[in-house]
Amino acid sequence: MKHVIHALGLAVLATGTAPAMAETTFDQIKVEAGEKLYDAECRRCHAPDSEHDSYGPPLNNVIGRGAGTVEDYDYSVALEASGIVWTPAALRAWMEDNDGFMPGTKMRHVGIEDRTVQDFILAYLDSITTQDNSAISD
Ligand code: HEC
Repeated sequence: MKHVIHALGLAVLATGTAPAMAETTFDQIKVEAGEKLYDAECRRCHAPDSEHDSYGPPLNNVIGRGAGTVEDYDYSVALEASGIVWTPAALRAWMEDNDGFMPGTKMRHVGIEDRTVQDFILAYLDSITTQDNSAISD
């Protein structure tokens, strides 16, 4: 990790502007960190695709998805009737205090309040969202 940052620093010095590579690499680091955090905090209940068994609904394509809309998943009434869309802001509120955000959900409280941890998990969720969600800004 140190080496990567050092190398990027030199590249910035050499060109005077941040090269396009730097952004790609930074985004990749966020996704990789997000995947580790997802594995630690979410994976035991949420498959990242529909092929694997999952106690909670699979979370691929969750950004921009209507809440409670994975076919064949047995949601709580609260979640199914909520009518919300999973924007990044809604996902932050959910990670922070899901049962406060939506009383009656059957997802156990996770309580991720650290915004940076939320950022990383969102970067990972975005990487497993393949549908077009460019209309979703926040
Ligand atoms: C202990 C198991 C468990 C853990 C850990 C868990 N979840 Fe859940 N999650 C669930 C269950 C069960 C539901 C369905 C809730 C309902 O129907 O009320 C759910 C629902 C969701 C939904 C709604 C999806 C939809 O299709 O509407 C999102 C988003 C979500 N979880 C994100 C996360 C994230 C992100 C993490 C990790 C930070 C996480 N969950 C950790 C069990 C879990």
